[in-house]
Amino acid sequence: MATNKGLSLVSRDDEGVDTAFRADVLTGLKQSQKAIPARWLYDDAGSQLFEDITQLPEYYPTRAETEILRDHGDEFAAMIGPDRAVVEFGSGSSVKTPLLLSAIAPSAYVPLDISGDFLRAAAQELSAKFPGLPVYPVEADFMRRVQLPGEVADAPKLGFFPGSTIGNMVARTAVDLLQTMRETLGEGSHLLIGMDLIKDEEVLVAAYDDAAGVTAEFNLNLMRRINRELGGDLPVDSLQHEARWNDDFARIEMHLVAQNDFSFSVAGQNFAMREGETIHTENSHKFDRRTGNMLLLASGWEPRARWLDGAGRFSLILAEAAQPKSAP
Ligand code: AVJ
Repeated sequence: MATNKGLSLVSRDDEGVDTAFRADVLTGLKQSQKAIPARWLYDDAGSQLFEDITQLPEYYPTRAETEILRDHGDEFAAMIGPDRAVVEFGSGSSVKTPLLLSAIAPSAYVPLDISGDFLRAAAQELSAKFPGLPVYPVEADFMRRVQLPGEVADAPKLGFFPGSTIGNMVARTAVDLLQTMRETLGEGSHLLIGMDLIKDEEVLVAAYDDAAGVTAEFNLNLMRRINRELGGDLPVDSLQHEARWNDDFARIEMHLVAQNDFSFSVAGQNFAMREGETIHTENSHKFDRRTGNMLLLASGWEPRARWLDGAGRFSLILAEAAQPKSAP
C-alpha cells in the first residue's frame, strides 16, 4: 500500500482551534434560523456514535444497503466489468467496501478522505483483506476535484459513494459534488451511489429519533464539541433532539430545540435562544426513482441500473458519465 503522508488538511490558529469549524459555527449561530453544517458532527466521539446508530433497530439504511451489495454481486460484475479502479468517496466501511470489491475484480482501490488517520487505518484493514489488490489512499477533500494517483491514471474508474451521504447535501451542493466527481473520475467512468428512499414518515422519524437515544446523543455531541473546542458555554441540558420530516424538501431534519430562554457565548461572542427556537444540524434528503435520476442527470450522470433491498427501503444506482451528444 502506498501512503501519502502530507500535512493535515485542517488549518488551526495559534491556540489550536480549527478555524473552519469556528467560522462555520459563528456564521451559523448568527442566522435567524440557527444552523451548523452537518460535517462537524463527525469528531471522534461523533464518528463512534454514528457507528452505534448503524446498529440500531430503527436505523435501516446501513443494513438495507449492505443487503443490496450482498445480493447483487453478479449483476454488478456483469454491468461494471473487471479491472476498474474503485474510487471511494470517504474512507470506506469495513463491511460494504469488501462486498463490492469481491464482486467485481477491480484493478485498484483508491479511498479518498479528508481525515488522514481514519483513511490510513481503513486502507490498512482493506489491504489485509485483499492482499493482491493495490490500494492508494488519498488524503483529500472530495468536495473539490482530486488528482488521482498516477498508477490509476489509465484505468477506467468506478466511483463508489454509499450510505446516502449525498442526501446530506441540498440540491445545489449535491449537483456540485456529483459534477466534481465526474471530473475527478474522467470519461467513461461509472458511479455506484446509495440513495435512501422516501417512505412512511413514522419510519423515517424513528430512524433519526431512536428509542435508545443514540441519535439524540450524536446531535448533542456537536454542542459538547463546540463547548470544548471553541470555549463555549451552550447549556446542553436545555436543548432537546428533534427529528422532523420536511415534506416540501423530502428530507429529515435534525434540530436541537431550546427548552427555555437562555443566553450563551461561543469563542467570545454572545448569543441567545428563545424557548422553542432551534439549531438546525443536519438534513438527510430522501429520494424516489425520478428525483434520484433527475439529480444524477442534472450532474452529468446517466442512470443505467437500480437495485433495492427486499423491503424496498433503500436504492443503489449505477450511473455512467454522460457523453456530450445532441439531443432534441
Ligand atoms: C451517514 C450521513 C447518511 O443521514 O442517514 C444518521 C447520518 N444522521 N443519523 C444519514 C445520520 C443521523 C447519515 N449519513
